[in-house]
Amino acid sequence: MNGQSEVITSAPGKMIILGEHSVVYGKPAMALAINRRFYCKVSLADGIYLNGRKVPAFIHPHIRSVIESNDAPGIDLNAGTEIPTSSGLGSSAALSASMSLAVRKLMNRSTDLGDIAKDAFKAEWDAQGRASPIDTSTCTRGGGVALNCPVGIGKHLWTISKNDKSWDVSEFEVPKMTFVVGHTGIKAPTGPLVEKVRKFKEHNGFAADIIDEMGIIALQGMNAIRRNDKEDLGEIMTRNHKLLSILGVSCNELNKLVNASLPYSYGAKLTGSGGGGSMIALTDRPKEVCEAIRLRGGNPIVVRTGEEGVRIEHDISGKELDFQ
Ligand code: PMV
Repeated sequence: MNGQSEVITSAPGKMIILGEHSVVYGKPAMALAINRRFYCKVSLADGIYLNGRKVPAFIHPHIRSVIESNDAPGIDLNAGTEIPTSSGLGSSAALSASMSLAVRKLMNRSTDLGDIAKDAFKAEWDAQGRASPIDTSTCTRGGGVALNCPVGIGKHLWTISKNDKSWDVSEFEVPKMTFVVGHTGIKAPTGPLVEKVRKFKEHNGFAADIIDEMGIIALQGMNAIRRNDKEDLGEIMTRNHKLLSILGVSCNELNKLVNASLPYSYGAKLTGSGGGGSMIALTDRPKEVCEAIRLRGGNPIVVRTGEEGVRIEHDISGKELDFQ
């Protein structure tokens, strides 16, 4: 079952800080890698083995896609994660990026980050018909990643295309910042929320104005990050949340957690597709924000920015991961 050699890789989770949903319509968006990682221990095999058990290929489209992209026979994958799943923190994007690096290494293929980002995007697309490559590019590159940002603001990394769409992906210098992520405990798949916005936009001209405004403030937010101006960035995040609420992708639980965090934060907003999932608060008072979130029934975790992207791991013996 086991191939000759084994590779251990990891990739960070991500949070979208500005521009979710509007990015689907070509507006700028930005995501930051967080210090929670997904780990993959991989060897080549004659089928798909996941944490010691043989599984049919159709059960795991991300794994199948990465194998197919790299003409691998199959893999024996032990996966362990620090990223809460189904929380909007990029767990499947991090899985795809770290698996791509491992499989590429084992198959003696290019380990260029652009190639990994493309494999990971294809895996997400194959699995869920995703709308943009923001998650997968951020989990691959680490740090800060922007989509559709004008020349001169970020530094061009790669272009990702699918069907008639093309996204320009840039990297960004990101100062060290602390965020609290508050998970509502509600699972809300991305597809139906993207569809909800599409319908709203189709039937209501007002939705297009909101999306335009979201694009403008995302750019202002990027400039605030460049100036390391947390007050301005926080204020823009909170405005972005209000616009997302008007678009219909927030929910009571998210609004409760956002409002509870604001007295101790620079700003707060839902992150990712919304409808449940998680919110984020930019803060220097993580303890107070965590307590406020816990009191409203949310599940808080403190995360920090400036995390490295996908990488080979040499020693993960100190990690408490549920490898078998
Ligand atoms: O559900 P998440 O956290 O992976 O983010 C979805 C973000 C959207 O803009 C709604 C869709 C996309 O792929 O950009």
